[in-house]
Amino acid sequence: MKILLVFAALGAAAGAEQLFVDFWRDPTSPGHPADLRVPFPSLQTVKIFLESHSISYSVMIEDLQELLDEEKKNMTKSRRIERSTSTFDFASYHTIEEIYDWMDTLVEDHPSLVSKIQIGQSYENRSLYVLKFSTGGSNRPAIWLDTGIHSREWITQATGVWTANKIVEEYGQDPSVTAILDSMDIFFEIITNPDGFVFTHNSNRLWRKTRSINAGSPCIGVDPNRNWDAGFGGSGSSSDPCSETYRGPYAHSESEVKAIVDFIRGHGNVKSVISIHSYSQMLLFPYGYKRVPANELAKKAVSDLAAMYGTKYTYGSIVDTIYLADGTTIDWAYDNGVKYSFTFELRDTGRYGFLLPSTQIIPTATETWPALLDIMVHVLEHPY
Ligand SMILES: *[C@@H]1O[C@H](CO)[C@@H](O)[C@H](O)[C@H]1NC(C)=O
Ligand SMILES: *[C@@H]1O[C@H](CO)[C@@H](O)[C@H](O)[C@H]1NC(C)=O
Ligand SMILES: [Zn+2]
Repeated sequence: MKILLVFAALGAAAGAEQLFVDFWRDPTSPGHPADLRVPFPSLQTVKIFLESHSISYSVMIEDLQELLDEEKKNMTKSRRIERSTSTFDFASYHTIEEIYDWMDTLVEDHPSLVSKIQIGQSYENRSLYVLKFSTGGSNRPAIWLDTGIHSREWITQATGVWTANKIVEEYGQDPSVTAILDSMDIFFEIITNPDGFVFTHNSNRLWRKTRSINAGSPCIGVDPNRNWDAGFGGSGSSSDPCSETYRGPYAHSESEVKAIVDFIRGHGNVKSVISIHSYSQMLLFPYGYKRVPANELAKKAVSDLAAMYGTKYTYGSIVDTIYLADGTTIDWAYDNGVKYSFTFELRDTGRYGFLLPSTQIIPTATETWPALLDIMVHVLEHPY
């Protein structure tokens, strides 16, 4: 049994690392809560630690294992239904095989709109696939989307699948989508960290990093959102291979990251990078990108998102909104001339964290869609 505690803490709980806790949401600026998973053997020590430091906390998930079991049961149930109806269940979480099969079906059904390209291989030699939505032309301005670079953020890959399907459904129906695809291409990497994703299904549901072996350390994996050549090696990442935010031995050491770098550089006409994470309900843009247009666009996007079901998002630059993080995707993109770079942190704010119930997949994807569309329309209407 694991227990998740939430701090309403002032800053980091110094010394917490020795308690083997897993920060789901980092301690940030004063007044912001942090979320952490506490292994059962550390529970009493952590409680005493918190109480002795007058840090208030509440338990969000009493028994994590129960939730994990329920999630697995739901997937099995959905698989049975899918087999008997041969339809894809967008309201369920899926394995890599199921998602890759679904991608092939999407391409087969819409060959004039969608194709699948391979941009590289993962550390464990899995193919890195990207869906390309294009109505023709050559080297059109492009929008890059990725989900699942942190493998345990399952709501993101599930939202990716729903969104890719939505793009296809709305082309020729929704005037905005039609206008976007009549002059731009969309590239969408749904399973951006396939090794990690497989590991979350087979071994450890809460795996975040890549699965590369670290020389001289028993700990596996690099944080692929600290591995980019943008402020690489700063204090917003770790040099310890055992840390969840280990940046890796050098920038772009991870083939999953390098593949995107090479793709975007090779393409040369990517205008927007939207990298989708969970959780926290936030829309973020890079440090340097604090000028008014980003704020206005983010404000509109989160307001259109909230209009659907009332889900509240905060927005702002990464450093102002959450915490210092270096070597991130969108900073790299921004530094490399991609003006419209954004990160979403999808549902929720910690009630379920990474274990968001499958019943929330479609509502999450549905509310995120107008926000994505706002950004894509803005890119279309404000070319540079
Ligand atoms: C990936 O493939 C390469 C070349 O075939 C091989 O040398 C390497 O051991 C493989 N890596 C893994 C983790 O399977
Ligand atoms: C499993 O499915 C049930 C029924 O749809 C739902 O109420 C529950 O939240 C789901 N649990 C998880 C962990 O996905
Ligand atoms: Zn993430």
